[in-house]
Parts: sequence; C-alpha cells; structure tokens
Amino acid sequence: MLSSRQRRALRLALHFIAPYRWQALGALLALIVTAGITLSMGQGIRLLVDQGFMTRSPHLLNQSIGLFLLLVLGLAAGTFARFYLVSWIGERCVADIRRQVFNHLIYLHPGFYEGNRSSEIQSRLTADTTLLQSVIGSSLSLFLRNALMVIGGIVLLFITNPKLTSIVVVALPLVLAPILIFGRRVRSLSRLSQDRIADVGSYVCETLGQIKTVQAYNHQAQDEQRFAGTVEAAFDTARKRIVQRAWLITLVIVLVLGAVGVMLWVGGMDVIAGRITGGELAAFVFYSLIVGSAFGTLSEVIGELQRAAGAAERIAELLQSPNEIQAPSTDKARLPQRVSGELALQGLRFSYPSRPERFAIDGLDLHVRAGETLALVGPSGAGKSTLFDLLLRFYDPQQGQILLEGQALTQLDPQDVRRCFALVSQSPALFFGSVEENIRYGNPLATREQVEDAARTAHAHDFILQLPDGYQTHLGDGGLGLSGGQRQRLAIARALLVDAPILLLDEATSALDAQSEHLIQQALPRLMHNRTTLVIAHRLATVKNADRIAVMDQGKLIAIGTHQQLIASNALYARLAALQFSEQEGR
Ligand SMILES: Nc1ncnc2c1ncn2[C@@H]1O[C@H](COP(=O)(O)OP(=O)(O)O)[C@@H](O)[C@H]1O
Ligand SMILES: [Mg+2]
Repeated sequence: MLSSRQRRALRLALHFIAPYRWQALGALLALIVTAGITLSMGQGIRLLVDQGFMTRSPHLLNQSIGLFLLLVLGLAAGTFARFYLVSWIGERCVADIRRQVFNHLIYLHPGFYEGNRSSEIQSRLTADTTLLQSVIGSSLSLFLRNALMVIGGIVLLFITNPKLTSIVVVALPLVLAPILIFGRRVRSLSRLSQDRIADVGSYVCETLGQIKTVQAYNHQAQDEQRFAGTVEAAFDTARKRIVQRAWLITLVIVLVLGAVGVMLWVGGMDVIAGRITGGELAAFVFYSLIVGSAFGTLSEVIGELQRAAGAAERIAELLQSPNEIQAPSTDKARLPQRVSGELALQGLRFSYPSRPERFAIDGLDLHVRAGETLALVGPSGAGKSTLFDLLLRFYDPQQGQILLEGQALTQLDPQDVRRCFALVSQSPALFFGSVEENIRYGNPLATREQVEDAARTAHAHDFILQLPDGYQTHLGDGGLGLSGGQRQRLAIARALLVDAPILLLDEATSALDAQSEHLIQQALPRLMHNRTTLVIAHRLATVKNADRIAVMDQGKLIAIGTHQQLIASNALYARLAALQFSEQEGR
C-alpha cells in the first residue's frame, strides 16, 4: 500500500521518534482513550434517547447525563495529553533533525557545495523540516486517530445495525478509489511545488546579497521580471495542486455524505416500521457522521503525509550524502602535537569536480622546507589558490600526494591537518558578529591581550579603536561596514591568533592601501618567524621577503629560485616582475 519512498520517509520519522518512545507511547495511549470515549458517546446517545427521553424517567436521565459528563471530563483530559505530547514530539524531532542535518553538512567536503546550491540546502533545512514537523506533530496523530475512528465506528455500526452498515461497506471502495487516484496526483504536484518555493528563496537570497551591484547596474527591472517569473511558476504549480486537492475533498464529501443520506432514509423507514428504536437510529447517525468525517480528514491527512514523504526523502538525501574527505577508518596516521611545517608535493594532479576535463593542478612537484617562506607567483588562473585548497584538504588530488611532516594528507584526519594551517584567503571571510568574535574565530580561548596583540601585528588595532564600539563593534553579514583593506587586516589578525605552524596567505595584502601594506610588510618577518609560510603574492616587497619564489602557470611549476635568479632565467617571471612589481618599485 505504501510506496518505497513513503516507507523510507516513515523509517526516517521512526528513527527520530525512537528516543522519545515513552512520550510516543503516552500519546498513543491518550489517542486510544480519546477515540474510545468519542466512540462510546454513541452508546450514550442511544441510552439517552431510548431510556431517558422515551421512558420519560428523570432518574434515568440524571444517570445518563452524569455518565456523559464523566466521559466529557475523560475526553478533555485525554485530549490535553494527546495534543501536548504529540506536538511536543513533533517539535522535538524537528529540532533533532535540524541539528543532525546541520552537524552533517558542516563537516561535508566543500566540493559538495559546488553541485548543490547552499540556498537550496537552506530551504531544505527550514521548509522541509517544517513540513515534517507538521506531520509528526499533527498529521500522524490525526491519521491514527481518524483511522481508529473509522475502524471503531464501522465495528460499532455493525453492532448497532448490520443491515444499514452493509451500505457503508458497499460505498467504501467507491469512496477509496478516487481518493487514491487524486492523492497520487497531489503528491507529485507537491514535490514540484516545494522545488518552486526553494527557487523563490534562493533567488531572493542571491539578489539581496548583491544589492549594491543590482542597484549600480540598474538591474532592478530585470530582477523584478525574473522574480515574478519564479513566483508565478510557484503559484502555478500550487494552483494545480490545489485544484486536485479541492476535487479530492469535494469527492469525499459527496460520496461519504451521499452514503449517509441513503442510510438515513433506509433507517428512517425502519424506525417508522418499528423494526429499530429511535435511540438506535440516533446512535447510528452519530457513528455514520463520525466515520464520514473521519474519512474526510483521513483523505486530507493522507495528502499531507504524501507531501511530507517528499520532504523526508530530501532530508534523508542530505543526511546520507557521504563525506568524501575523511580520515581512513583503519590505520589513521597521527601528527605530532606541533609539526615543523615541512611540506612535500609529489606528482600532484587535480581537476575540480565541476570541470573534470581540465587539470587546475597539473603534475606539480614541490618541497617546502620547515620554517621557509615561499612566495607563489603566476598569472591569475595558474592554480595558486587551488594549491591552498589541496593543502587544507578541501579536495583530494586525483594523482600524486601531499606529505605533511612526512605523512600523506589522505591518511590524516582533515581536522588534524587543518589545525596545522592558518589561512588568510583571497576574499577575507568575516561573519556576522563583533570584531573581537571575528578575530577570535579560530581560537576562542585567546585572552583579550592576545587578541589585541594579533590586531596590532596586523595593523588593525588603530582602526578598530576608531569604530563606534571598538572591539565590540558589530559587523553585518560578511563583515559589512568595513572597507576591503580593513577586512583583510582583521583576517590577518585572525590567522595570527591561531598561531599555526604553517601560514597560508592568499594575496593577503592585495586590498591594502600603500600605507598599511607597508606596515604589514614590516611586520611580515615577525609573522613568518618560526613558521612555514606560503604566500601568494602580487607585490615585489612580499616576494623579495621570501626565501624562494615558485612561478606557476597553468597548474604547473615552471621555475623556482630567488628573485635575482628568476629575473635572469625565467621569461614569465621577468614579465610578471616588469608588469606587476614595477609600480611598487618606483614608489
Ligand atoms: N571551484 C572551482 N570549480 C571549477 N574550476 C575552478 C574552481 N576554482 C578555480 N577553478 C579553476 O581552476 C583554475 C585555477 O584557479 P585558481 O587556483 O583560483 O587560480 P589562481 O589562484 O592562481 O588565480 C582556474 O582555471 C579556475 O578557473
Ligand atoms: Mg587565487
């Protein structure tokens, strides 16, 4: 009856409910009790009509009403427990799911995010989990309750009057068939609808994130149009789904209540003929209404459950996406507490997963001595930043290997590897939060003095003090509110604070003005002291500070040596030097 997809969804739900089995048991109990009480009300009605009204005995009426009030109390208490427990489980499970998905995502290899837009993932974390929450926190219990009502109601109908009940039994397949057909259509449209909504979310995220570019190029009109397209597509899909669902509900009502009408007519004839009592008919009508409305709810809930099956599947997909960058499960190598910083790259060949045909690193051999400062130069696109990605084990090379302290990176835990590096990336990444939190990012235990020390060395201290709240100044998303050079200096301070044996600077001084560049240049010897430093450099001053210079082009190492040696022997370096370094030299 369930598709394999729904079974998988159900398994996922059960997996997350399992830790709360006692609460779930309590909810189930409350559910059964309330359903039982509701059903027994029918018998109460029969007694009330036949013994209270028909016998005209106030004593019996008192008794019946007393029983009725008792049942109401039980129903109220049971409903409270059911509602509270079921909603609690729903919220609790979704909190667990969100945490588990996030905890999985945050360790996942960066290559994963090239094939999956992060905005789409974000919508899975919010929209899909909300859908699941509504299922676990209400639909599932509605489903169980109404299923119980239908089953119990039909049993009691049979007990009350088998002849009338046969009408229900005949009508049942007539009701079920269209429900199943429309349910299937609703399900496939729901999935589409979800995807469309995700499209809307990611479009907003992207456009608003680049608001200055949007406005600078007067791109609003085009954006309005494109956004309208996305929204209308979402509306269109939703409308189709609604149509199917409206038909579903209408059909259920017509078929179910039509059957009830027929029963009333047949039963009414029996009462008139004296074959059954009025109380019996009243109870019968009560049960038919319960069964009818339970059926209606059931069909709606099934639609909801089908919608959630899609959501659960997408969440399961996320949870099961494998992490490609991991330590080997057996024979994991270990690094000493503090590595000396020696690096060896051997026959390295790497292409990005999105562009497998082109090697970004193409047969690279390089040995970096402990404590050495190595400058990497080369035209843009040469593969310099990619090399850093490989060192940090964001990707594993297709061929060759990188040895850190004599150990192959692929044999190491990525977290162990990354502890050895401090990175200042090409586009300094700051986070929403205070200046101090941003500097402390890699070393939350650092003292205030250490933070300020790092900021001083990075020549950030002075400008930080001029910010409205100094170190406590809050930065917007991505460090909004700072200039490019200021961001870069914060990023440098952050890298200094982690005090890692290997420092990776990716054009770390490119956005600095001449003045701060000069200051940082003076600090560089102190930064590089006792550290292995790889610096991707565009400025002669940085390059000249290095022990050796490696020239890269098209993923290959084409020359290595000192400035003087390379100027004399390497045409590309001579050209780069003439073009890129001359302007600073003349300064
Ligand atoms: N995420 C990526 N996916 C596919 N190709 C990439 C990616 N990042 C960089 N590349 C490509 O790899 C090559 C090397 O890039 P990169 O290492 O950033 O160069 P550099 O830092 O030397 O300017 C370029 O051709 C670039 O287009
Ligand atoms: Mg680069």
